Amino acid sequence: MKIKGQEYRTIWFENNIVKIIDQTKLPHKFTIKELKTIKDAVNAIKVMEVRGAPLIGATAAYGLVLSIIENNDQSFLKKSAEDLIKSRPTAINLKWAVDRIMNKLSGLNSDKILDIAINEAKQICEEDVKFCENIGINGLKIIEEIYNKKKDTVNILTHCNAGWLATINWGTATSPIYHAHKKGIPVHVWADETRPRNQGANLTSYELNEEKVPNTIIADNTGGILMQRGEVDLCIVGTDRTLANGDVCNKVGTYLKALAAHDNNIPFFVALPSSTIDWNIKDHKNIPIEKRNSEELSYIEGLDEKGVVKKIQIYPKNSKAMNLAFDVTPAKYVTGLITEKGVCEASTKGLKKLFK
Ligand code: MRU
Repeated sequence: MKIKGQEYRTIWFENNIVKIIDQTKLPHKFTIKELKTIKDAVNAIKVMEVRGAPLIGATAAYGLVLSIIENNDQSFLKKSAEDLIKSRPTAINLKWAVDRIMNKLSGLNSDKILDIAINEAKQICEEDVKFCENIGINGLKIIEEIYNKKKDTVNILTHCNAGWLATINWGTATSPIYHAHKKGIPVHVWADETRPRNQGANLTSYELNEEKVPNTIIADNTGGILMQRGEVDLCIVGTDRTLANGDVCNKVGTYLKALAAHDNNIPFFVALPSSTIDWNIKDHKNIPIEKRNSEELSYIEGLDEKGVVKKIQIYPKNSKAMNLAFDVTPAKYVTGLITEKGVCEASTKGLKKLFK
């Protein structure tokens, strides 16, 4: 997708270096950062220079490539794989990508593994682009149907950033929106600010602006009243891990939006590539929910009046804060899952129909 009119992907590999858009600097600064070592890759995921389930999976895949370049040794590679998996616990794509590369390399001679790892990491990225494009084509039908009935702008609420910045291109939740916009269907996005890291304001609104998709940032608690007043036609969110029974783990606050949508009869869809499905965990209480540093709540960053980026403390100095990053929306509140293979019911039956 575009930034200042130029096409970008979120990650690419050039001359044995991984290049990323540093998302901690957005929206105020567009910076391309180079990752040269496994430590760089682990750190980029931890501090969220890259974030979003599919993108951290791709970064982990390239992290293993960097590890081989640095030290082509089995135990070093194994330790790198462990460090990557531990770097963020909730999004299943991370483990999925690491396992995929490690399985591909298993039993191979050390002189072959670099080329094969590079190829597999590239393939993970290419596949994600194709899957996200298909999610867009499949989700477009839902937006089109609403537009054909309403004959007016379709208002779509989304939470966090499941946009192209969270994937390699297109995004998951935003892909149907970009497809609708490109087709000339009038759409408007309500972007939940998404405290504490403000991915909705800093990333979703930013990327929609760059693609000229009309959008408005709202405080996280505003969705309910907008739904009651008929100002939301549809919700589409992403996910970090969706269980085979259709329970959806996503950025904290998603559950409350799903409850409000349910109360107001508003369709609530979740867009995801199959790499985000966890076929093993049966009970959502066993999903590891990331707890991040409480300073993400008590400090906020922005531009001062001179245009300089400043970080300031906003809470009382002696107050405690707690920062859980994800929650779970039970399948019963999910209208459907938009995947690369089609739209299905959020249930084992629905998912098994598409993914044999
Ligand atoms: O903490 P983040 O910014 O990595 O969380 C991102 C989300 O919750 C997204 O909705 C999810 O990863 C899906 S991205 C297509």
